[in-house]
Formats: sequence, C-alpha cells, structure tokens
Amino acid sequence: MNTLMRRAQHLHHWRTYCIKQCAAVAGNEATAAAKGKTSYEELIDSRHQQAERSIVVQVSSEKSYNELYNYCSRFGRIVTAHHYTVPHEDELHYMLLEYANANEATAAIDSSAYNAELSSHSSVSAGGSVSGVPVRSPFLWFRAAAAAGKRNQSKLSANHKPLPLTTVAGTRPLAQDHLHTLLRSAESIEQQLQLLYEHTRLNDLGVRMRFLAALQVQQAIAGMFPEARAQPFGSSVNGFGKMGCDLDLILRFDGATTAQSERQLMSRLVYHTKENLSNGRSQTQRQMECIGDLLHLFLPGVCHVRRILQARVPIIKYHHEHLDLEVDLSMSNLTGFYMSELLYMFGELDPRVRPLTFSIRRWAQSCGLTNPSPGRWISNFSLSCLVMYFLQQLRQPILPSISAMVKTAASTDIRITEDGINCTFARDMERVSFASRNTSSLSELLLQFFEFYSQFDFHNRAISLNEARALSKPDHSAMYIVNPLEQLLNVSKNVSLEECERLRIEVRNAAWILESEVENSTLTEQERNEQSWGLLNLFKHPEKAVIRPNMFFKPRMVEVSDLFEKSQLNGSTTTPPINYKNATMRQQVQSIKAATRNELKQLRESSTATSSSSSSTTVTASAMPTAKSKRNR
Ligand code: GTP
Ligand code: MG
Repeated sequence: MNTLMRRAQHLHHWRTYCIKQCAAVAGNEATAAAKGKTSYEELIDSRHQQAERSIVVQVSSEKSYNELYNYCSRFGRIVTAHHYTVPHEDELHYMLLEYANANEATAAIDSSAYNAELSSHSSVSAGGSVSGVPVRSPFLWFRAAAAAGKRNQSKLSANHKPLPLTTVAGTRPLAQDHLHTLLRSAESIEQQLQLLYEHTRLNDLGVRMRFLAALQVQQAIAGMFPEARAQPFGSSVNGFGKMGCDLDLILRFDGATTAQSERQLMSRLVYHTKENLSNGRSQTQRQMECIGDLLHLFLPGVCHVRRILQARVPIIKYHHEHLDLEVDLSMSNLTGFYMSELLYMFGELDPRVRPLTFSIRRWAQSCGLTNPSPGRWISNFSLSCLVMYFLQQLRQPILPSISAMVKTAASTDIRITEDGINCTFARDMERVSFASRNTSSLSELLLQFFEFYSQFDFHNRAISLNEARALSKPDHSAMYIVNPLEQLLNVSKNVSLEECERLRIEVRNAAWILESEVENSTLTEQERNEQSWGLLNLFKHPEKAVIRPNMFFKPRMVEVSDLFEKSQLNGSTTTPPINYKNATMRQQVQSIKAATRNELKQLRESSTATSSSSSSTTVTASAMPTAKSKRNR
C-alpha cells in the first residue's frame, strides 16, 4: 500500500513537472522561457561590481562580528555579511562584508593601517623575523581594540544593530554522511537528483570569494595596466561548479570595456607601446613568469605558486590561503572563457541540464573515471561535453546544436580571439529561441544517458556538439569530441584506450544498477531511511559494480568463461554462492546469464559453421548485455 501511495505521489510530482514543462514550451515558447534570464556577460559584470563593493576581514572568531560591523559601518552601509572559516592548525575566521557601493568599500580599505607587526600577528604566514612590503588589497585583518588606540573607542560604541549574518561557516561543504542521510530521506530518485544538485553546487559566497580573488590580481597590476581584467571562468561561473571547485582565471590586457573601444576609434593620442621582444608564445611565457613572481612576492594570501608554462595553455597555479582556494591563472585561453559561456547558456536553457551533469560528474568521480589531476582519463569538461551531446541528440532535443546558436548570432555577438579563433554565437537566450518539448524526468534522462553511451561507437565515431551529431572519427584517438570552438582539435585527445573502455564498462554497470533501482521500489519508508537506495547505490563503488573492468583488459576482449561458473557452463544446476539483494535482482541476473548463454550458443554454432578450428570462444565487449537489452528481454 505504502509503495502504491509512493508511486502515486511520484507520478503526481512527475505529472506536475511535465505540465510545467509543457506550459513553458506552449504559447510564446522559447521567448517566454528566455525572458529575464541573466546573460553570461551580465553575470560576470554584476559579480565584478559586487567584488568591488566588498572586503574580506580576518577576525579572531565569529563572535567578533558585532564589533566589526559597528566599526566598518562608519565607512558606509553594509548590505550583506558572510562568515567562513579556513582550516589551519586552529580554524581561521573571516567575514566577507559587502557595502552598498564601491566607494564605501574603497574608504574602508583606504582607512586600513599597514601591518607593522607581521611576524607576531599574521596568523597564516607567521614565522621568525618576517617583514613584508605593504600592499593595498581587499584582504584585511581586524586587530584587537587596544592596538587601534583608545581615541577611537567612543566611535566603536556607536552601536548599529548588526545585520544578521547571511551565512555562518558558509564555505563548509555538506559532510558526506549528512549528504547520504539527506539522499536516503528523499521520496524518489528524481528528488535525490535535485537534492544532490542543490546541496553540492557552489554557493553564492563561493562565487563572491572567487571574484574577490580575481579583483585582487586585477588591482595589483592596475597601476601599470589600468585596462587589465582578471576574469573568472570555468566551473566557478558556468553553474556547473561544486563547493570547493578550483578557480580558473584569465588575465586579459586587451581592455574589453566600451570606453576603451570608443577611445580606440576616436582618440588621436596613442600610447607608446613596447614591442614584443620575442615570438607570441615565449613572450606570453616570460610575461606569465613575471606575473607569477609578482603574485608570489607581494600578494597577501597567495602561496604555493607553481608555473606550468610549457603546457598548451601556459598557467600559473597558486593557493589563496585567505580564501582556501586553488587558482589556475592563464593569459591566453580566451576560448576557454567563451567555452564557459556556452556551458553557462546550456545550463540556463533547461533546468534539467545542471542537476543531470552534477549527478554524472559525481558518479564518474565515485567510480574513479575522473580525477582532479589531468592525465589519461576523461576530464570533467569532456564529461560535460558528453552530457551536452547526449541532450542534443535526443529525439526531442533538450539542447540546441552550437551551429544553430551561431546562425542566430547578431553583430554584437561577434567575438574573435587574439589568435583569430572565431567564438561567435548568439548570447541572448531570446535570440537562441530554443524550447524543448522533451518531458523526460531527470531520472529517466540519467538512465538514458548511461544506455546511450553503453551503445555509442567510440571506436569509429566522433562527437560534434556543433552539429549535434556523430561524425566519422578523423584520427585514432580513443575518444574524439570535436572542440566546439577550435574544430580541428579534439577535447578528449588525452583519453587513453583503456580509460575509454573503462568508461564504456562503467556506463553499462551504471545503467544496470540504475534500472534495478528504478524497478526496485519495494522498500518501506523505514528501509529507505536506513539503507542505501537510488543514486546512493550508483555512487557506491566498487562493491556494487556488476561487470568488473579487469574483465576487459585482455585487449578489449573477454573470455566468456570468466562470466560463468564452470558448473553452469557444463550445464550443471549447482547454485552459485552469491548473495543477491532480493529475488528480483536474482531473477534479473539469472535472465541475463540465460540470455548470454543463448548468445554464446549461437556464436558457437556460427563459429563452428565458419571455422571448425576454433577452440575457445570470445566475444567483444559490445556483445555484453546492456541494461537496455536486459529490459527488452
Ligand atoms: P572543474 O574545474 O573540474 O570543476 O571543471 P571546469 O569546467 O572548470 O574544467 P577546467 O578547469 O578543466 O576548465 C575550465 C574551463 O575551460 C572549462 O569550463 C571550459 O570552459 C574550458 N575548457 C577546458 N578544456 C577545454 C578545451 O579543451 N577546449 C576549450 N575550448 N575549452 C576548454
Ligand atoms: Mg575549473
């Protein structure tokens, strides 16, 4: 009865969802859905401005807030206040305060004293007889009242009623066990997918902090390069970032402001400019080395600076200890910036795109398909491309092709990078004018994703998000995803054959597990709260894995005998010593084995017909039963 009610409830949610979706596509369709959506550039601009109105102040504890609020209110009206901590020997505490306007934040920063007692007071970079060059930045420290002089004490008691803190410990990710409890308490897999997204995505404070890191770099060089802009991109801004994600930053010297473009056309006075001393790439490397030194030597909070200048896109990596943030700074990766804009737009075009991508990224991480460091495995970015392509190629697509976005571009959308790469596509969601009639739920899409890539012919086909279709593979890369903005390049060139094969196996496992989870709704409410179900079983790896990867590492072929107990192959009915979760699961496994035995028998028969010399039977990985074929049986 309970199950029936739950199913009915699920059906009801699902219907409401469909009705909402259909309403969105009816009538004014795409235009209505696109109205009021913030464009990527608007988002970046508004976050930059927000950073210019903000300061970060290190305090001794969260309890210092009232005093800090009183003190800082003298410079202007504080409109939001966040608290966060950074792990250290003891936790370090910080407040991020946002003023009503940038002048007020500037006044607070300009009122600050230089730290004359660096060695005894800087809690992060403490050490012997350290001294430092005073640098102006939005990263401040709130020292004890006594040190600030008795004269100011009367002002401190001005007693403004402090604005409530928007967050306390606002950057702390949800602990794994809490997340699991939350997911267990969900009503359906559908709800689990939404909860996972809502509770693991980068929050507002996380974005604010990332734009402050960018502003610090920009302000540090503003004297010599007033037009330079440090722009966050990647998962920090495209809506696909999770709590704690790295910051990708591009430092642009080309001054993209309107005022600058006007001057460029109108002014008769032109800056004398030093000619590049060497060719483009080595010049960029030298400049980055120099910027790296500047960050390393002078910027408060910046530490562990590493220069990776030989990579295709040279970067400087550093850690920001006041923000507890890893930063990748580049100067020549504008296509990455525009690619983030494309991903941002995809995320905005349909509310299912981000929750779906989040669950797939988490699944890939849990089964070791992705890894934070680059290597022969698939990157999060390539994985996101796989998700986007899957959503484009559906019978009722959920996303448009990139070429459709290029076709609807206006003249204001033209973007050509310094090295001549055309990154033009419609930026305005209304112009893109795309509305999906696809009413699939998130859980259905997740299963379809796994089934789709179980069947995808990575061996011969390349994925094109530009055309929203698969093309013939132009080279022998194991996985080929056409780089949407540089179409002669392969985004997933780094992926090895083994890793590609592993992906194929894992998507099959996932499809199988997920389908069993969808079918298996016999758990009572109490059981649901107490044991793993739904997405949790998808993330519970490797105990749950059904087809083991090492079965396939015999050059992409599998000895079928590995899949069956000897007794079964010999026709004996001895029960294998396996504990199945329930009867349905046992039945499913047995029917798959039976079906595979049949396939084997047929293979044997046909191979005996064609070659009597064959003594051992092997099948390729693609002959393995998929969840789809399982269902059809
Ligand atoms: P995580 O850092 O893993 O959270 O994801 P991310 O999306 O930030 O990926 P990553 O830091 O690797 O890359 C940052 C951004 O650069 C991506 O979001 C893309 O926009 C872009 N990018 C990454 N790889 C490529 C590539 O091969 N070609 C292009 N054009 N852009 C890329
Ligand atoms: Mg990133």
